[in-house]
Formats: sequence, C-alpha cells, structure tokens
Amino acid sequence: MTTATVRYLAPAWRHTDEIPVIADWATMAANTEAHPVQVHNARDAECDVETTGFQRIAHTTATDFRDRFAVERGYLSEVAGLVQRHTGADRVVATHHFIRWGDPEDFEAGYAGFLHGDKPLIDPAGYSWDRVDRLGLAIDRDQGWDFAWYNTWQPVDRPAIRNPLTFIDAGTVTPDDLRLYSYDGAGERNLETVPLRAQAHRFYYFPDLDTDELVLFKQLETRPGRTPTCLHSAIDAPVPAETPLRRSIEVRWMCVFAA
Ligand SMILES: [Fe+2]
Repeated sequence: MTTATVRYLAPAWRHTDEIPVIADWATMAANTEAHPVQVHNARDAECDVETTGFQRIAHTTATDFRDRFAVERGYLSEVAGLVQRHTGADRVVATHHFIRWGDPEDFEAGYAGFLHGDKPLIDPAGYSWDRVDRLGLAIDRDQGWDFAWYNTWQPVDRPAIRNPLTFIDAGTVTPDDLRLYSYDGAGERNLETVPLRAQAHRFYYFPDLDTDELVLFKQLETRPGRTPTCLHSAIDAPVPAETPLRRSIEVRWMCVFAA
C-alpha cells in the first residue's frame, strides 16, 4: 500500500446541472480538488474487469513502439486477440491509441492529472451506435447487439514505476458519485465522466507494472450487471529520485457482443 494525492471534481459542482470544462492545467486546477488517499496493491487483490473494473493480464510483445506501422499492424492485432479472448466479444475494434513517452509538462501528452472515466455514461448504447456510424462499421441493426468499451494500458521500454495509474474499485462507486464533464483538450470537445469525492472509494495500483504486463479496464457498458466504468488517474508514487518517467501505450477498444 502507498499514499498518493488524487484530484476529484471540486465540491462546488455537486449541486448543479452545469457541465464543467477541463481543457488545460488552469481549468483542471480550478475545477478539481486534491485529496490524499491510500492506494492498495492490486497484485494482492482479486481483480476482474467485470467487477472491480480492471485486471492485469500477461502480454509479451516484440513490438518496436517507435515504428508506427509495427504498432498499428502488429501490436494492435496482438492485443485485439487478447481483448477478444478475455471479453468473449464477437467483434473488437481499436478506436484510438496513444503512446506517452514521458512529457509530464504537456497537458495532453503527459499523465492524467485527475480522476476520470473516458466516456459519458448517460446513453451507452446511443454513444456506441454513433461511433459505429462514424467508423463506418457494418453491423446489422436489426439484430440485437451489446457494446462494452475497454482500455488497455501497457508500459513501454521499462516498468511503470514512476507515474503509475491508479484505479478505483468500481464496486465502491455509486452513480451519485459521477458527473458529466467536458474534456476540451486538443481542440476537441469530448464528454466524459468525473467523480466527486466519496469516502467509500477504494484505490488500487499495480506496483512496477512490467513491459510484459498490461491492464485491461472498462470504460463503458450496455450489458446490465457489469461494471459501467473504471475511474482512473496517474499518481506520483513515492520512488527514488533517479527513477525515470513512465512510458506507456494505451488503446481504446470497442467490443461488440451479440445480445
Ligand atoms: Fe483516461
């Protein structure tokens, strides 16, 4: 277990229907509030992406992450297979990937500075069908389909010792804890999810997550009874001063299931 500081949506947003905007360091500081929390070792816990919202999976890759084609043709298809096996999805689509090389001063390319979920939770099916249309995917609407969105996150070059991700056990989060916010980074408006502070939240991280491990975590769900989302943030774990910055690749996956 370690202690860390996380940033929650500021309490001023608890009793309003207005949607906060976070677009840079200044709006993050203005709309969120720092709280110290205890972060438990997820390696000692029972974790499952459909209950706690996150789990560790072994994945060894020989990908050269500086080669864009190796990432897009090799790594993404490797991990698509892994996601398919773990979720049982009928179809798995990578919608976005990003490599963080260790640039903490950059709001976009640095590390997530506040707790959030990457998707809006108000209409998971509507959101998913909109993405199906935008991606031009051929999915027969006359059949019943469910959707779940997952992230994978894997260290690159070296273990993620500094700046690991922390995850809130989804079983400790209630719908009342969650608010919509607008993430307006990189010139785009994206509605996502941000939590208000609640004492019940239980935090986990995977100490020293290695380059042959990844974390699979949930971001959106249309199937009842499963984790709706897994809130996450980078944290500054206490580490020796010479520990290098984290490098990692994250991928967003849309999974489609025959209902
Ligand atoms: Fe995120």
